[in-house]
Amino acid sequence: MRLRRRPSPADNSLTVRIFSGIQPTGQKTFGNYSGGFRQYVATQEEGEAFFCIVDLHSITVEYDPAELRESTLDLAAMLFATGLDPHRSTVFVQSHNPDHAEAAWLLGAIAGYGELRRMTQFKEKSAAHEFVSCGLFTYPVLMAADILLYQTDLVPIGDDQRQHLELTRDLARRFNARFGPTFRLPEGRYPAAGARIMDLTEPTRKMSTSTSPEMGKILIVDPPEAIRRKIMSAVTDTGREVRRAPDKPGISNLVEIMSVATGRPPEAIEAEYGDGGYARFKAAVADAVIACLAPVQERYRALRSDPGELERLLAEGAQKAAGFSRPTLFAMYERMGFTRRPD
Ligand code: TYM
Repeated sequence: MRLRRRPSPADNSLTVRIFSGIQPTGQKTFGNYSGGFRQYVATQEEGEAFFCIVDLHSITVEYDPAELRESTLDLAAMLFATGLDPHRSTVFVQSHNPDHAEAAWLLGAIAGYGELRRMTQFKEKSAAHEFVSCGLFTYPVLMAADILLYQTDLVPIGDDQRQHLELTRDLARRFNARFGPTFRLPEGRYPAAGARIMDLTEPTRKMSTSTSPEMGKILIVDPPEAIRRKIMSAVTDTGREVRRAPDKPGISNLVEIMSVATGRPPEAIEAEYGDGGYARFKAAVADAVIACLAPVQERYRALRSDPGELERLLAEGAQKAAGFSRPTLFAMYERMGFTRRPD
């Protein structure tokens, strides 16, 4: 009997593949808007795009099951509210496509303990929690599986995910060298301005959903008064010159925020506000962020009020996603020497 050889997934399409993931934990911030949402919308035009709500990643630190269910739908609404088009992009929930967990287990065979231990995010999160789960440790392997399963070329992310993407590339190269060409090598896409939005109260730390204090992070759903209050009280340095500089992290951050909110280059903003003083500049940043988020908030409220429709879109997304990931998963099994799964 002739054995059918499955076609190489690397050959099955010539279009550019785009993939990114975002965790359904907590309320998403302006940092997520900058490195995440905004870039997803821009890249969906460039090829076949997949955007994944990575719920399996969210259970790696302590969490509340009821909250996870709600915030998964919150995030779906936010992805569409910020401009993802369900007819163009595939938006889905990670746990709805079991290929991710399976591929992560397979990649676990070639990921080294030493390289995972060196991950900055693991070091920071494990230092902050009393209980450190195995999932937190193997988190980057699941992320690599997410990306590699779709033969991804382009991964729109913020700067904090750079190290995880490098690991993904290392694992892809290692797998290809050991078992034969299977994965494309993905490239990261980082925004020119706003790749790392900083905490408003402590501008040397990144603005984070989980660790920033309330006044340190702008939430995408924050009402205008809250946005204004947070920006007006943002920590800045002495002086009055609006200019990015290593010794002016507070004002540098506000210039980047302004650039993200208006789409104007930071240099143009520096030229306009020059030495007009911080108070005037902060008021302008607050206006710009409020204006940028207002239409998103309005669409978000409308979309979130119809959970049935969100669930329907996510179900469609998961089915489509599985159609793309399955050939890669089967190729992984085959090349690693597993016997064929009965159909
Ligand atoms: P997550 O959910 O923490 O963040 C989602 C996206 O937002 C970006 N981001 C920021 N960008 C600029 N400034 C900030 N302060 C800021 N904070 C967050 C992140 O870089 C990210 O792009 N591990 C990922 C989720 C993930 C993933 C993937 C991403 C799982 N699988 C596959 C890409 C591809 C994470 O926790 O992102």
